[in-house]
Amino acid sequence: MTSQEAWQAARYRQLAERIKVSIDSGALQPGTRLPSVRTLAAQYGVSQTTALNALRTLENQRYAEARPKSGFFVAQASAARHDQAKVIAPLDEQTELHLALVGSECRVRLDLANGSSDLYPLEKMAVLLRKASQAKPAVLGTAVKGTGYPPLKAEIVRRALHHGCNLDPDALLITNGCIEALSLALRATLSAGDAVAVESPCYFVLLHMLQSLGLRVVEVPAGAAGYVDVDRLLALFENRAVNAFVTLANINNPLGKSIPSPAKAVIAASADAHGIVIIEDDIFGDTAFGEQRPFPFLAFSPNALLCSGFSKTLAPGLRIGWVYSRQHSRRLMMLKYTSSMGTSIPPQRAIAEMLCNGGYDAHLRRLRSTLATQIRQLREAVVYSFPVGTQVSEPEGGYVLWVQMPPGALNVRELFIKARTRGIGIAPGHIFATDGRYDHCFRLNAGFGWDQDVAAAIEQLATWCGESLAVDNRALSPNRMLSLGKPATPL
Ligand SMILES: Cc1ncc(COP(=O)(O)O)c(C=O)c1O
Repeated sequence: MTSQEAWQAARYRQLAERIKVSIDSGALQPGTRLPSVRTLAAQYGVSQTTALNALRTLENQRYAEARPKSGFFVAQASAARHDQAKVIAPLDEQTELHLALVGSECRVRLDLANGSSDLYPLEKMAVLLRKASQAKPAVLGTAVKGTGYPPLKAEIVRRALHHGCNLDPDALLITNGCIEALSLALRATLSAGDAVAVESPCYFVLLHMLQSLGLRVVEVPAGAAGYVDVDRLLALFENRAVNAFVTLANINNPLGKSIPSPAKAVIAASADAHGIVIIEDDIFGDTAFGEQRPFPFLAFSPNALLCSGFSKTLAPGLRIGWVYSRQHSRRLMMLKYTSSMGTSIPPQRAIAEMLCNGGYDAHLRRLRSTLATQIRQLREAVVYSFPVGTQVSEPEGGYVLWVQMPPGALNVRELFIKARTRGIGIAPGHIFATDGRYDHCFRLNAGFGWDQDVAAAIEQLATWCGESLAVDNRALSPNRMLSLGKPATPL
C-alpha cells in the first residue's frame, strides 16, 4: 500500500467511525437516510471515493443498508446489531505488537494497571516469605496438594463477610493469580461456541482468553453513568442471547466505575431467572476509594462465580489469586489439577500472615489514599493539558484513567508507537474491543505517581493529540474547528 492509499484508508475509516457514533448514540435513527456520497465528500473535505468507501464500510458492518437508486440508510437492525454474539478474530499483527509491548520495559510507565514497588509492603512480604520457607523447608521438597493453604482460605472467608459474601472454605480454590482463576471459571462453566456478554471497553486479557476458548462475545457498552448499560444487558438475558456475563463490576478496568448494588441485584435476579452464569473478576474491589467496599455479585446470587487475588493490593509478583463457586467447585478443582496442579505454599503462608497479623488493613487504607491522590493528579493534568473535546473518566478506585478523543480524531495505534519511541507507555484503546470502536481512546496508569517525567509525558501526549485533532478538524470538518488548550471534560 502506498502512503497515499494508506492515508485514504485511514480517512474513510475515520469518517465511518464518526457516522457510527451518531447511529449508536441514536442521533441517526434506523431508517434515516444517510447523506449522499457527494454531500459527505463536500461536508468533510474528502474525495467522493473516500466518502463512498466510508458508506460501504458501514454497509459491511451492517450499520447501513444500500437501497437501489435511493442511497444509503441507517440499517433497521442497527439496535440489535451489537447484541449479536460474534466470534472473536485472532489478533491482527498490530494488536499482537501492542500487547507484546504493553508491559515491556519503558521509561514512563503509563501503560500498566499496577503501581511502583513503593506502593506495596515488599520488605515485609520478603521477611514473611523467608519465614514461611524457613518454618517448613520440607514444603519446598514435596508436591503441592489440595485447594490451598487453609489459614489463607480462612482469612479470605472472614474478609468476604464484610462485603456480603458467606463463603464455604471447601469451595474456595487458591490459584496462580486472578488470571488463572478467571480461566478456570470460564472453562468450568462454558463450552466453545457459547456466547458471553462483557462490559465494553473490555479488559484485553479477558477478550483474548475468550478468543482462545472459542467463545463468542457481545460487547455491552457503558451507559451514561459509566458502568454497563443495564437495560441492554437485561435484554440479552431475556432473549437468551448469551450464556454468561463476565464482569469487572467493581472498579472496572478500564473505566474505574462500580455497578451500584441495586443494579447488581436486578442483574443477578434476571441472570438466575434465565439460567445465565455470572463470572466476576473482583481484583480491584479492595482498591475502591469510597467508605464501603462495593459488594460482589455473589452477595446477590449464590450462583455467581467470584475470582480475585492480591496482585493489585499486596504484591503483584507473588501471583496469588482465588476462585469461589459452591456449585462448580468440583469441576474447578479438577481443571486446576490439569492447569497448574497446585499453588505454591510459601507465598500463601506469607500472605496469610500479612492478612492476620501484618497490618493488611492499615496498608490497604494507605494504598487507597495514595491511589486516590495519584489518580487526581494525573486526571487534573489531563484535564488541563488536553484539547477541548477530550473526555476523561472519573474512577472510583484502582489505578487507571480512560481518555477519549472525539471519534475519528486520533489514530491510537500511531500514537502508541510514537509514544513508545520516546519511552512513554500507554495502553492503546483498540486492544479493549474486537473492532475499531476505541481507536480514538487510550488508558493511562496513575500507579507510578507524579514526577517530572510523567508531567512531560502528559504534555507530550496532549500536544500530539492536539495536533491530531487539529488535522482531523481541518480535513474532516472545516466548520467545526475546536479551540485547543481548554479543559477536557469528564466522561
Ligand atoms: C481486571 C484484571 N484482572 C486480573 C488481572 C491480573 O491478575 P493476576 O496478576 O492476579 O493474575 C489484571 C491485571 O492487570 C486485571 O486488570
